[in-house]
Amino acid sequence: MNKLISNISGWKYRHLVKPILFHYPPDDIHELFLSVGKVLGRCRLMRWLFAAMWRYDDPMLEQTVVGLRFRNPVGLSAGFDYRADLVNVLPSLGFGFHSIGTLTNGSYAGNPRPMMQRLPKSRSLLVNKGFKNDGVATTLARLQTVPPLGAIRGVSIGSTNQVYPDFEAMVEDVVSGFQTAESCSLFDYYELNISCPNLRNLENLKEQLASPSGLTKLLTRLQSLGLRRPVFIKLPLERSEDEMRLLLDAARPFDFITGLILSNLAKDRLNPAFHPDEIARAGVGNFSGKPTQARSNALLRYVYRHYHNRFILIGVGGVFSAEDAYMKILYGASLVQLITGMIYMGPQEIGAINAGLVALLKRDGYASVSEAVGTRA
Ligand SMILES: Cc1cc2nc3c(=O)[nH]c(=O)nc-3n(C[C@H](O)[C@H](O)[C@H](O)COP(=O)(O)O)c2cc1C
Repeated sequence: MNKLISNISGWKYRHLVKPILFHYPPDDIHELFLSVGKVLGRCRLMRWLFAAMWRYDDPMLEQTVVGLRFRNPVGLSAGFDYRADLVNVLPSLGFGFHSIGTLTNGSYAGNPRPMMQRLPKSRSLLVNKGFKNDGVATTLARLQTVPPLGAIRGVSIGSTNQVYPDFEAMVEDVVSGFQTAESCSLFDYYELNISCPNLRNLENLKEQLASPSGLTKLLTRLQSLGLRRPVFIKLPLERSEDEMRLLLDAARPFDFITGLILSNLAKDRLNPAFHPDEIARAGVGNFSGKPTQARSNALLRYVYRHYHNRFILIGVGGVFSAEDAYMKILYGASLVQLITGMIYMGPQEIGAINAGLVALLKRDGYASVSEAVGTRA
């Protein structure tokens, strides 16, 4: 019955709702989605209705990872819910976890509009937000008023898109963000975002957070905070295996880093996954969706093979279906995240991915997600 409702919802979203939404600028639709999601999430009846129609639960999907109990492995990736507007509604849509942010120590109004552009033939979004957000303190004060509703919550923190006098000032700014976040109790893990390709104001700095020496400096400072929750590092996409190894060897000695997220947005416009007309017309920014999939999967496999005894991995990039999520799990991801797949396929897709995962696990003889992790790395 649930499958039928989900199929009908998906058809309606793709053929009736999406054509209307895609008629308007993506920046406006994103804001609309956040406002509507916030209002609907406050209503118990709506939450019940969404859960009854779309959410899919199964013990095969449950896992304890980094000491946290995940209802299922599918999460909302950082960047969509940057004001913590959706914390009420996301669990009823079927997400097992979600990431709030990326937040920065100070607030940032965002880069000049348009901050997003659609590339429907490439199944991608062009993103140029530069961490639009209200700052850690304001956003987490808002979160403090919303009790958790069964899904695990993460908070992503990064550096602000401002001109810092030097690298040390940037490190201290990120550290201050974490220090402020520590006083909020209503979330479960951190993401340390060292990989946003939209922060153009940082290009003047000789040192970068995503270099081995820069990362060591940042992690040394963060270590001194004695953070109470697990930390995942969100990694850049377009790094060679050797570059990734050097970066991860820098992170390895820091015990408070429990996991890695692979990966952030794509910069490379020569990527064959782009439709030529769309990439020729694309403005300023970097890309999500299908063009990130092949590279993020290859990195995930590489990192799992070499670091699975040390780090828990979250796979993100181009997940539009259960098969896409399953591939990441087989390559080594304990958890997966997505944004673009939900925008193109509809919110009912989260439950459909979870239902599809159970079917794929059964087909291949696995008793649970954890059993399948890394079996094809
Ligand atoms: C609109 C938008 C905003 C994003 N903002 C952030 C962000 O603030 N922090 C971050 O770590 N990643 C951000 N990302 C990257 C996503 O978290 C994710 O890594 C990437 O989009 C690949 O996943 P997808 O193909 O499922 O969208 C953003 C992506 C999108 C589409």
